[in-house]
Amino acid sequence: MSDFAGLRALVTGGASGIGRATAHLLAGRGAQVAVLDLDTSSVDKPLLAHRADVSDDTSVRTAVQQAAEALGGLDVLVNNAGIGARGTVEDNDDEEWRRVFDVNVLGMVRTARAALPHLRRSRHAAIVNTCSVAATAGLPQRALYSATKGAVYSLTLAMAADHVREGIRVNCVNPGTADTPWVGRLLDAAPDPAAERAALEARQPTGRLVSAAEVAGAIAYLASPLSGATTGTALAVDGGMQGLRLRPAGR
Ligand SMILES: NC(=O)c1ccc[n+]([C@@H]2O[C@H](COP(=O)([O-])OP(=O)(O)OC[C@H]3O[C@@H](n4cnc5c(N)ncnc54)[C@H](O)[C@@H]3O)[C@@H](O)[C@H]2O)c1
Repeated sequence: MSDFAGLRALVTGGASGIGRATAHLLAGRGAQVAVLDLDTSSVDKPLLAHRADVSDDTSVRTAVQQAAEALGGLDVLVNNAGIGARGTVEDNDDEEWRRVFDVNVLGMVRTARAALPHLRRSRHAAIVNTCSVAATAGLPQRALYSATKGAVYSLTLAMAADHVREGIRVNCVNPGTADTPWVGRLLDAAPDPAAERAALEARQPTGRLVSAAEVAGAIAYLASPLSGATTGTALAVDGGMQGLRLRPAGR
């Protein structure tokens, strides 16, 4: 499929996991793609790399401008960079709450703000935010992280309303637990990584983790000009975790 032929995309957090899979998928479907990431050492051709920190406005503005100049404009913004946080509402101090909101929520605000002037000049403008099942389901030990993703969900709807008449679509994907380097780090830090993986797999009705490629496929679907009537939606890519209620196996 070459539905992205002639389009220019910027993917934040595109050096790893879901962002990396998305950047390569969009390039494979014909887009010219630039990656914005803290660490771009692993970004390879045909992707362009721009090092920036989404928690720093100057850094974001500079990288978005450079990416738009290198690509000759911008049609698609994938707001994907994000970080995790563990614990109940008692476990993270104010500084940690500010830091995670700064990256996960304000990071998307900064990149969108810098990209919008370019997106307005596109004939197929789309923004896709990486949200999470944590926005819509109560997960234990994820109070701060879930709050940031709830904000991303609401931000997605508000942005979709603000920009629909400018021809800019805004949607988000809500992945379940995805098999990325991030989750690999979480498993490595667990007392029993195999048991932790089994528990995460069992939480999803499909009985397995979501792959980065599956989330990338959903992001590409929402970003594609073929989805021109889709805006203000959250697409679950969670192995049924949000919507299904199964009986125990065999009963
Ligand atoms: N992996 C999961 O289970 C899962 C589930 C739901 C949602 N998500 C979301 O998917 C997104 C990507 O997660 P992933 O699992 O691919 O993680 P990952 O750690 O593999 O990749 C995240 C990328 O974001 C970059 N990044 C982090 N902070 C940054 C900053 N301040 N500025 C610029 N870049 C920064 C990192 O360098 C890294 O390349 C995140 O928003 C995450 O919340 C992940």
